[in-house]
Amino acid sequence: MVSIGDILKGRHVGETVELRGWIYRTRTVGGKAFVVVRDSTGIIQATISKDAVPPEAFAAAEKALIESAVEVKGTVTKDKRAPGGYELRATDLRVVHFAEKFPIQEDPSEEFLLDVRHLWVRSQRMTAIFRIRHTAFAAVHEYFRGQGFWEVHPPMITSAGSEGGTTLFELEYFGRKAHLTQSWQLYAEALVLAMERIYYIGPSFRAEKSRTTRHLTEYWHAEMEQAWAGMDEVIKHAEGVISHACQRVAEERPEDVVALGRTPEFLKAVKPPFERLTYDEALKQLKAKGVDLEWGKDLRTLEERALTEGTTKPIVVTHYPRVTQAFYKARDPKHPDLVLAFDVIGGDGVGEIVGGSERETDLETIQKGLKEQGEDPKAYDWYLDSRRYGSVQHAGFGMGMERLIQWICKLDHIRDAVPFPRTPARFAP
Ligand code: 4AD
Ligand code: MG
Repeated sequence: MVSIGDILKGRHVGETVELRGWIYRTRTVGGKAFVVVRDSTGIIQATISKDAVPPEAFAAAEKALIESAVEVKGTVTKDKRAPGGYELRATDLRVVHFAEKFPIQEDPSEEFLLDVRHLWVRSQRMTAIFRIRHTAFAAVHEYFRGQGFWEVHPPMITSAGSEGGTTLFELEYFGRKAHLTQSWQLYAEALVLAMERIYYIGPSFRAEKSRTTRHLTEYWHAEMEQAWAGMDEVIKHAEGVISHACQRVAEERPEDVVALGRTPEFLKAVKPPFERLTYDEALKQLKAKGVDLEWGKDLRTLEERALTEGTTKPIVVTHYPRVTQAFYKARDPKHPDLVLAFDVIGGDGVGEIVGGSERETDLETIQKGLKEQGEDPKAYDWYLDSRRYGSVQHAGFGMGMERLIQWICKLDHIRDAVPFPRTPARFAP
């Protein structure tokens, strides 16, 4: 058995091989059946001539509908006209399972494709994205491990949120109220005083009602936290990990990248440093572009689009106004109205890919910040121990893996960055 991907790399020309997969497309012309077969690595056309295979094999090929499971034996030949440049001249074919008429036909609507997502995951578009996702996840692990970070794991069921009450999913926990994690934030700040350089990739949950092209209610979050470090050091890691993921995807999946509308060259050029500007500078740039934003307001889709217009690399915006920011972010010692927080913002409508900051080390400032945000500091008492016993300067960030993949693959909508998207409107299939 060989994989279609291996054949498409030119590894079996002239050999007689066997492969198995599902019928992607099929047509019969005269005494020939052209059966395009897919497996997890690609598609290839098998040409089945009536006189080259046993009669029952030809009859089966004629009868089998798309998505039937098949095993094909044949000789690999180079053929410029065939999709992918190679084809299989079949000597035998066996239908493992005759599929019923497949529900997805020509020109399906977006809504219908979401209804039959369990079948649509077989499409060439989705499988290309899954392969890139696979490579991007590996690259994030590789980057942080290579930089001396420990992989550690926080709980998913939590007692208190860190990113504001409005997006917290509530959970009944044996008669008490618990929450699904929004971020590993509080746990990271406890663990970082044990392990110094830590990272993890896991699911985060946001009860985000906004229906946008870049919000999911469940997404995969790559997070890092570093002791003895400030904002500048972790911005370098944010640039480093995004660049590393782009390099790996460009090297390992060039065909998938092209199929989705980017080029490997575009991704290869994503190298640090990224353009940096402060929030105040961003407002000035926006004003010059005719976009007015009141000081203190968060950048929205509109502003992020305007700022990244024409860029080929993500940009980094730093020093946000304190008013909009979570309690754990460090005040800027030079400007008490600002925090040492940053976002990495991607173009093509993707927006914020990474959000991070230096962390406030002063116990009283955090307690005050919690109260200002309407939280009860008592609920955070265990967390505040990180500021009672050996508090040191530390910083970190979170990166939405689907945002990264959306940007790398130039997807219009974030839902295609994940096999079974969770949005306010849907949690099935
Ligand atoms: O900016 P956020 O809310 O930051 C935090 O949660 C920090 N505690 C992270 C940290 O410092 N460890 O979220 C981080 C990233 C965002 O930049 C975005 O990429 C992604 O998580 N994100 C979402 N992705 C998809 N759907 C959503 N609803 C998302 N909300 C945040
Ligand atoms: Mg953010």
